[in-house]
Amino acid sequence: MVLDHVGIAVADLEEGLLRWGRLGYVLEARGDVATQGVAVAMLKAPPDTQGAARLELLAPLAPDTPVGRFLEKRGEGLHHLAFRVQDIEAELQRLEAEGASLIDPRPRPGFGGHLVAFVHPKSFGGVLVELVAEHI
Ligand code: CO
Repeated sequence: MVLDHVGIAVADLEEGLLRWGRLGYVLEARGDVATQGVAVAMLKAPPDTQGAARLELLAPLAPDTPVGRFLEKRGEGLHHLAFRVQDIEAELQRLEAEGASLIDPRPRPGFGGHLVAFVHPKSFGGVLVELVAEHI
């Protein structure tokens, strides 16, 4: 299990792209996840850093959405850590058996067509954790 990306809540996607561009991170893909009411920009690390984790900028499409409420309550900043897993169903079962609190007991489609599932921050010391299926 490796770190796939760091999720960052932003008020404005364009501003976020400029901000993180200063560290050499460039746009890999962008699009909306309508079911979550969020616009996503995935940034990849500079070219000489193969295998490095990406940055996922998340901007709400409306105030009454998960990321909209997050911004309202906490402001811009770190939102989640996402780990890439070979078998997302098996990992969810394993975590649940260990007593973790699953937000998504079943994987659901996430950005870029990968199945994803979120684990409650209370199970990871206040950090929201996302599992991302390695294969589409
Ligand atoms: Co994510």
